[in-house]
Amino acid sequence: MAVLGRAIREQPRIFAVAVAGSVLFGSMVIASAYVVGGVVGEVVVPAVARGSVGVGALALAATALFGISVLRVVGIFGRRLGAGYMQYRLQAAYRRRVTRRYLELPLSWHHRNATGTLLSNANSDVEAAWYPIAPLPFAVGTLVMLVGAVVSLFLTDWALALVGLAVFPALFALNVVYSRRMAPRQARAQRLRAEVSGIAHESFDGALVVKTMGREAQETDRFAARAHELRDALISVGRLRGVFDPMLETLPSLGTLAVLVVGAFRLRAGAITVTELVSVAFLFTVLAFPVRAIGWVLAELPRSVAGWDRVRRVLDATGEMPYGTRRLDPAEPRPATLAFDDVHFGYEPAEAHLPGAQVLGEVGFTVPAGKTVALVGPTGAGKSTVASLAVRLVDPDSGTVTLDGVDLRELTAESLARTVALVAQVPFVFDDTVRANISLDRPGVGDDDVWAALRLAEADGFVAALPDGLDTMVGERGTSLSGGQRQRLTLARALAGRPRLLVLDDATSAVDPRVEAAILAGLRGGTPDGAAASILVVAYRRATIALADEVIYLEQGRVLARGTHTELLATVPGYADLVTAYEQAEQEREQNRTYDEVAPLTSGLEIEVDR
Ligand SMILES: Nc1ncnc2c1ncn2[C@@H]1O[C@H](COP(=O)(O)OP(=O)(O)OP(=O)(O)O)[C@@H](O)[C@H]1O
Ligand SMILES: [Mg+2]
Repeated sequence: MAVLGRAIREQPRIFAVAVAGSVLFGSMVIASAYVVGGVVGEVVVPAVARGSVGVGALALAATALFGISVLRVVGIFGRRLGAGYMQYRLQAAYRRRVTRRYLELPLSWHHRNATGTLLSNANSDVEAAWYPIAPLPFAVGTLVMLVGAVVSLFLTDWALALVGLAVFPALFALNVVYSRRMAPRQARAQRLRAEVSGIAHESFDGALVVKTMGREAQETDRFAARAHELRDALISVGRLRGVFDPMLETLPSLGTLAVLVVGAFRLRAGAITVTELVSVAFLFTVLAFPVRAIGWVLAELPRSVAGWDRVRRVLDATGEMPYGTRRLDPAEPRPATLAFDDVHFGYEPAEAHLPGAQVLGEVGFTVPAGKTVALVGPTGAGKSTVASLAVRLVDPDSGTVTLDGVDLRELTAESLARTVALVAQVPFVFDDTVRANISLDRPGVGDDDVWAALRLAEADGFVAALPDGLDTMVGERGTSLSGGQRQRLTLARALAGRPRLLVLDDATSAVDPRVEAAILAGLRGGTPDGAAASILVVAYRRATIALADEVIYLEQGRVLARGTHTELLATVPGYADLVTAYEQAEQEREQNRTYDEVAPLTSGLEIEVDR
């Protein structure tokens, strides 16, 4: 009920239009019953008795019926239009609100919520929440109409009114029972439908795994099991409908019958006229359908409440990442200094009662202005977590991360975005042109800047060779890019913003080692406009690491050692092992790659055609 009240408060004018339309429709339904009664009583009966038709009376009757029909159509139009408008506007408004909220909520919130849930929050939950809106004005109009009908019955004859008082509540009650029993069945069918399409989606997405692992049969079985469940759920919906629909159809007819029986006695007693009897009998028939609108609203309510609860959970979610008010001088072209001081961090546990494991402890290091620092460590050591902290995707539990001495939490969102850029471990390419992917419509990033960024990322070669150059569509529905090409595109995207601190999380792993070294050497020389950025780079390759001014060796979330590459090789056994192991793996891959190039047109998974 609160949900419906809220809907009315948000769109009061449209709701008023819809209800007015519905009430108009309802009054006209009652009016039509009386006009039909009048026509029968005043025109048809005398005509049959006399054997001739009064033209004047007939014309009057026709005009009245026509007028009522027009008003009824106007009423239906107003109601449908108003209800539709209201429902879709509310849905659109709430979809926008939910998605905007998603973007505002911090990463820590997203870590706890699965993508599938988020999608269904924005889609079906919002839809379900506002579903009863469409029949609501109809139901309100119907209530008004029922009251009107009962009042007019009492004005006509108390005996007939009693019949009405017996039939209408019975019809209403039947509708309520029907809706209550139908709602859970339909909810189940809805959920199964989502699951079936989810499984289908997963098998398409994972087609590569399904095929190469020979899982076709199991996937088909998995799908069939759910499809059968859905079938059973839909059959049970149909069965219920089969029982109730005839009852709902029959009840008004029984009412009409009762009216005729009771009416015949009253007519003989002289209490009512033929006109009145026909009117009332007709009234029972036309009222049956609108009463069902009330049932529809009641049927949708539980689903609406559930949907609304999930939508509200998003809208009311707290933990927004508050930004500060300080800004670093945007005109300052010089590189920024990044400092971690005694940083501790743990991801929030998936469920509140579980303890969150600490991922980083006592992490402290500095990337001095214009210097390159390499972050090295085994998998799971916390390198990506350090990268997330450095660009404030997450905040430390304790300790500070500062840029030029200013805590990241004190900076405005805009200042932060202008100063730092992260190239993430998993490259993301928008389904858009190369140009849009790189410039992101940031002010002051023209084609020249895009090309300069592409050059630094060693990506100008393959982009120039694309069919439409910068206008080539890439991503899901455009030209497919190799892993290395994707990485270089996302690197160029970061560079185009002229960041003063660049954080590269394993951002060139799919790129040829020689190219990777060339990129890094170029970056040390400067971002597109010549000013060198400070660089924090997660790296594995010896050639890359060797370019860094300092190496931080991270293991299990702790800084175990720091120094130059040569120093660490000599003094830290774990470090030497890691780098050597990686180098060997790399060499093996390199040999395979050479083999691929000898055998032309092989798998095509990792061929770099541009170099
Ligand atoms: N979103 C998350 N929620 C919970 N735990 C996480 C999350 N992301 C990472 N972790 C955990 O934090 C630890 C460090 O992860 P991180 O991604 O920082 O490692 P990494 O050094 O980047 O590893 P890799 O070399 O494989 O990229 C791991 O134990 C991982 O399981
Ligand atoms: Mg990582």
